[in-house]
Amino acid sequence: MIFSALSPLLRSSALQNLTQQALLRMDAETAHGATISALKLGLAPQQTHTDPPELRIALCGLDLANPVGMAAGFDKNAEVPRPLAQMGFGMVEIGTVTPRPQAGNPRPRSFRIVEAGGVINRMGFNNEGHDAAYARLKGLRVPAALGVNIGANKDSEDFVADYVLGVKRFADLADYLTVNVSSPNTPGLRNLQADEALRRLLNEVLAARAKARVRVPVFLKIAPDLDETALDAIARVVLATDLDGLIVSNTTITRDTVAGMENANQTGGLSGKPLFNLSTQKLAQTRLRVGDLPIIGVGGIHSPQSAVAKFEAGANAIQLYSALVFGGLDLLDRIKRGLAAAVRAQGKTNVSELSGTQVADWAAGKAEL
Ligand code: FNR
Repeated sequence: MIFSALSPLLRSSALQNLTQQALLRMDAETAHGATISALKLGLAPQQTHTDPPELRIALCGLDLANPVGMAAGFDKNAEVPRPLAQMGFGMVEIGTVTPRPQAGNPRPRSFRIVEAGGVINRMGFNNEGHDAAYARLKGLRVPAALGVNIGANKDSEDFVADYVLGVKRFADLADYLTVNVSSPNTPGLRNLQADEALRRLLNEVLAARAKARVRVPVFLKIAPDLDETALDAIARVVLATDLDGLIVSNTTITRDTVAGMENANQTGGLSGKPLFNLSTQKLAQTRLRVGDLPIIGVGGIHSPQSAVAKFEAGANAIQLYSALVFGGLDLLDRIKRGLAAAVRAQGKTNVSELSGTQVADWAAGKAEL
């Protein structure tokens, strides 16, 4: 196959650079579609070496070769989890998937903020629905932890029932599930983070999990736009359940870090570099409230240094998406090498030992990148 024959070529950084430049000239969603197509054709670089032992972690019983994951939203329909895993991600989170297919918001709905390395999206859970994702994943061997991120249809009469359907459908097939209540692009969804609504949601989701054949770990993904009182309530509710962990965070509706820049006034959620400080502060504030509950830190990771900082603020594992739009495919490799180097430089033996060393400073807003 000609495309497979081209694959080694794409491993050359000069060609990767060219591809990256071409993608950055396209509309953001068109570029994303082209990237998914390239991955489907086997054009992605594949990691040929095994990850160093410093990066191997256990997360909720999952054995990860490294702690760096592809965040939800990149592979909404489970089209390319295998190529992503082969690129060297330790976990790959597909979705958000909703029970029924839905078109999402009208295009354009994804915008780059080039000046700041940010992205604003208002995709609105465009996805092909549970059945399509399930059919693609069934029997598929993915050489990384496979997460399935579940959500609710925009026009659903009962959001909670949609999440329960997601658990029932994917519990046997996923290595972990993520209950996403933090997209700003489905009206009313973020209200599920509030005290009583969250309690009901988690009780029903975890009751559905208890009935499944296997005990799949369940994470809750929260917004970075929650104040400390809201985080108190979330921690209280979560700690009263057997939820396995949190993902902090989704995109922000704030715009202070990009004010005045091109596209900054687009409606939607902001991600990428300009989200880093906010999401990392929220991660640390959450860490202070939940003891040693596993937390996956997401939001604005764009360099080895920012990946290390996420761990120091309290993450047990990390995910990224937006920076790959700007940084290209070798960013994952650079981040992993940077994490392993930080472990060795600090005289430690494993990346898990970096976790939480700077929580107080990050939580108090005294640390930033
Ligand atoms: C996202 N994100 C996202 N999250 C989620 O839980 N479900 C989803 O469907 C999506 N969709 C989505 C689309 C696009 C275009 C972007 C840029 C992001 C949020 C994503 O998983 C992550 O939480 C944030 O983007 C913050 O991480 P980064 O991008 O700053 O590394």
